[in-house]
Amino acid sequence: MTQSITIRRPDDWHLHLRDGAMLQAVLPETARHFARAIIMPNLVPPVVTAKDAAAYQSRILAALPEGADFTPLMMLYLTEDTDPADVAAAHASGLVTGVKLYPAGATTNSASGVTDFDKVRPVLEKMAEIGMPLCMHGEVTDSDIDIFDREAVFIDRVLDPIRRATPGLRVVMEHITTKNGVDYAKSQGEDLGATITTHHLIINRNHILVGGIKPHYYCLPVAKRESHRLALLEAATSGDATFFLGTDSAPHTDENKESACGCAGVFSASNTMSCLAEVFESQGALDKLEGFASLHGPAFYRLPANEKTITLRKGDPVPYPASIPTEDGPVTLFDPGFPLHWQVD
Ligand code: NCD
Ligand code: ZN
Repeated sequence: MTQSITIRRPDDWHLHLRDGAMLQAVLPETARHFARAIIMPNLVPPVVTAKDAAAYQSRILAALPEGADFTPLMMLYLTEDTDPADVAAAHASGLVTGVKLYPAGATTNSASGVTDFDKVRPVLEKMAEIGMPLCMHGEVTDSDIDIFDREAVFIDRVLDPIRRATPGLRVVMEHITTKNGVDYAKSQGEDLGATITTHHLIINRNHILVGGIKPHYYCLPVAKRESHRLALLEAATSGDATFFLGTDSAPHTDENKESACGCAGVFSASNTMSCLAEVFESQGALDKLEGFASLHGPAFYRLPANEKTITLRKGDPVPYPASIPTEDGPVTLFDPGFPLHWQVD
């Protein structure tokens, strides 16, 4: 039986760090294990221009614990007013790794997102030309579409048409939650990647709703039925380089989660690697963990894999805190619902 596994340091290809006191509290949780992360730009106000990204990058670097070896990969938030030249210059200088598309109103802090996709056509064409990845929050926002169907409908109505109209555009389907997402991602070429979160490999919609409502399992896209979770699990542990880790760790204070209108987001930065080792082991696929967490993402983003390694060791159940303290109040950590035996050295 394998008792330890050494892999290249992982990267998180979808992470929310927020700002101010929250940034200060959550950044060490990611920097402890991860070498790099794509930093989501949905601040209030959002990170829209290269200038905003440079300022946010400086605040992140200033908040890093002494001696941490962590690189934030910056993103721009796509609006209908985004300037293609600003985006291209920010990419060429190395400041910005990609652009994030939120359909307006799809999720937390997405009010400035896109409503009319024709308006962002010049930016998308520029990105296709320079090979800059577009990360998509793949849910439609139409009020007549059931929340559990919003990802599948997005693929047909938005994602596929945009890709057909913009040859060469490199797209990441972010935090896919459905078999539809898995099947679409698998059927496309190397210009399409898909991230999968830790929690969507572990929970289905019953975890949110059965036996009392569990606000800490509520995120967007919302977890779907078990057959979809199984499709995600199969994809993540298959070794297929289309799929890689984006935790979507999204901290909100308990006060904001445990409310009559609770925020969407699962905070999983602290125990993600332990959760993943447990999940991959249960599938007999520990040998595929490095690909998913450390190799497929850099390959898609055309970056070198990390040279340094981490070692996960199996032992007695690992204690982890129920929540982490922040100046704004506690933030509950993702509870996978089973003991975690794997710990990063
Ligand atoms: C994210 C957040 O809180 O910023 N929430 C979430 O449920 N995932 C936004 C997002 O990525 O959709
Ligand atoms: Zn997110």
